[in-house]
Amino acid sequence: MENVTITEKSRKAKKEYRTFNIDEIRNEFPILKRTVNGKQLVYLDNAATTQKPQSVIDATAYYYTFENANIHRGLHFLSEVATESYEQARLKVKEFINAMSVSEIIFVRGATEAINLIANTMCRAKMFSEGDEILISHMEHHANIVPWQMMCERNGAKLRVIPIDDHGDIIMEEFKKLLSNKTKLVSVVHTSNSLGTINPVKEIIKIAHEKGVPVLIDGAQAIQHKPVDVQELNCDFYVFSGHKMYGPTGIGVLYGKTSLLEKLPPYQGGGDMIRKVTFEETTFDDLPNKFEAGTPNIAGGIGLGTAIDYLRSFDFKDLMNHEDALLQYATQQLQLIPGLRIIGTAKKKSSVVSFIIEDIHPYDIGTIIDTDGIAIRTGHHCTQPIMQRFNLPATARASFSFYNTFEEVDKLVVGLHKVITMFK
Ligand code: ALA
Repeated sequence: MENVTITEKSRKAKKEYRTFNIDEIRNEFPILKRTVNGKQLVYLDNAATTQKPQSVIDATAYYYTFENANIHRGLHFLSEVATESYEQARLKVKEFINAMSVSEIIFVRGATEAINLIANTMCRAKMFSEGDEILISHMEHHANIVPWQMMCERNGAKLRVIPIDDHGDIIMEEFKKLLSNKTKLVSVVHTSNSLGTINPVKEIIKIAHEKGVPVLIDGAQAIQHKPVDVQELNCDFYVFSGHKMYGPTGIGVLYGKTSLLEKLPPYQGGGDMIRKVTFEETTFDDLPNKFEAGTPNIAGGIGLGTAIDYLRSFDFKDLMNHEDALLQYATQQLQLIPGLRIIGTAKKKSSVVSFIIEDIHPYDIGTIIDTDGIAIRTGHHCTQPIMQRFNLPATARASFSFYNTFEEVDKLVVGLHKVITMFK
């Protein structure tokens, strides 16, 4: 009897994963079959947004087709079904990032709104005052710069910037020096969208916590590439967007430790976040509702839950190995192109390659290869300060997903040679 129980337990504990089969995977992303400018689409702009598997598209269509109703409000059948689907999605997020409780999962529009929520509510809770400091790094996305600047303007706090070296790694010694008793928050990106650097966030969190400073991690470019365990990281806040992890646009997540979220006031007022309203006074609901005023993006939440199901059907190691191999291959091949320089050569990198080609503007690179159906991003990637750090107006950036192939890297290389020939 004892043996049977153990066997049963270990069978359940051992999750059955799908085999990583690139053709099968690509087949599940309908957009990858389309042509652009008469050529097969080569989509290498995954850091801007990822494509959606059919299951995510179907889940949102299913909600609108069969379950559409408002949530948390009605006792009628459809409202209960919609509420259940939305709250199931919250549970999936909780499990995906290993949060302690669903109360710690706040649905927002995306990583940007999550950071704005924290900046605004910390400000209103008077957690910062004149002379206090917020530490960010030089490689932050504008979403992790501008909300803090706006907050500093309101309360006289100061934004301090952790420098990075020429490879694109945070200079940890400088970080330690900048941390002081004036520091009230450290807010850094897990993986840089423009350089690909994977920051040592666990170490950063540990060092900050030794000084009693809470840490927010912007995980918008990390969550789709590696398993994230918020309890293991011990971060205080972790934010990400659904659309960069194969889910819909307009939905994202703010994870926060309960003890901190409870100290913060609501972000917006309205329906669904209150307990009692009179003209004299309003009392607010518990977490997570306190931060979710108004009708949320129900279909988006459900779609995000389905994207998580999709990701969890794989062994994450398989996805990571493939993306890593693409990064290594692309790096090698691009380096062979005369006049091409890779920007961002950090010790640990995600599958993002930013580059410039001597005497050719990145916009020209992007426009020319687009005529061959190859989509990359060109510009400052919403990280102007890092462009200034490298003395560049812009870069071209190829960013890979697990559905990309080595042949697509080859097509990019051919396209870049064509650009160079045209400019000769
Ligand atoms: N932040 C997104 C990018 O890196 C839009 O392209």
